[in-house]
Amino acid sequence: MASPLPIDQLCRALEAEFDRDPRGPGVPKLLSRYQADHEDWRSWTHFSQERYTRNLVARCGSYELLLLCWEEGQESPIHDHADQRCWMGVLQGELEEVHYRTPAAGGIEQGRVQPFQAGQVAFIDDGIAFHLIRPRGGRAVSLHLYSNPIDTCRIFCADTGRAETVAMGYHSVRGQLCAGDDPAVIREQVLAGTWGA
Ligand code: SIN
Repeated sequence: MASPLPIDQLCRALEAEFDRDPRGPGVPKLLSRYQADHEDWRSWTHFSQERYTRNLVARCGSYELLLLCWEEGQESPIHDHADQRCWMGVLQGELEEVHYRTPAAGGIEQGRVQPFQAGQVAFIDDGIAFHLIRPRGGRAVSLHLYSNPIDTCRIFCADTGRAETVAMGYHSVRGQLCAGDDPAVIREQVLAGTWGA
């Protein structure tokens, strides 16, 4: 039997880590070891001129792992994380994270701006801030880990702070294109182990 890909070994280690402690204290070390030692993620990257792409690596009860591919000039909306934890490990290039908060009085305020280079791991949850992610100085690729998995999030208007709930979709699953397919069906198949069967 072929030995599992390093990215699948990472997924097993993440599942064990969340079983041990749902807060995932060991996650940054697992992500940064994978980032330093492996390149198998490269065969699952897909870039689009339309928008940054969300490429599903794995999803189970405790987490979802995605590979995000960013062309220069693209950015995520300002968004929350539906009360879940989010780790971001940069695999290629440099990404900038911009924090935001929505004061009780209304509107939206920008907070700190921080660059993250290949090899670094960032963490955020809604108690820390909402954020926007964008590449700096060319293409970038990053791993995004959500625990628990997120199906919808709120995005915020940068001028007014007005929030809207949106569904999260996928550009590919384990390298196979699926842009336009119903994300709920994809999730069901991935969880049942029947994706691509
Ligand atoms: C996304 O998942 O589309 C945005 C990136 C993030 O929140 O880490």
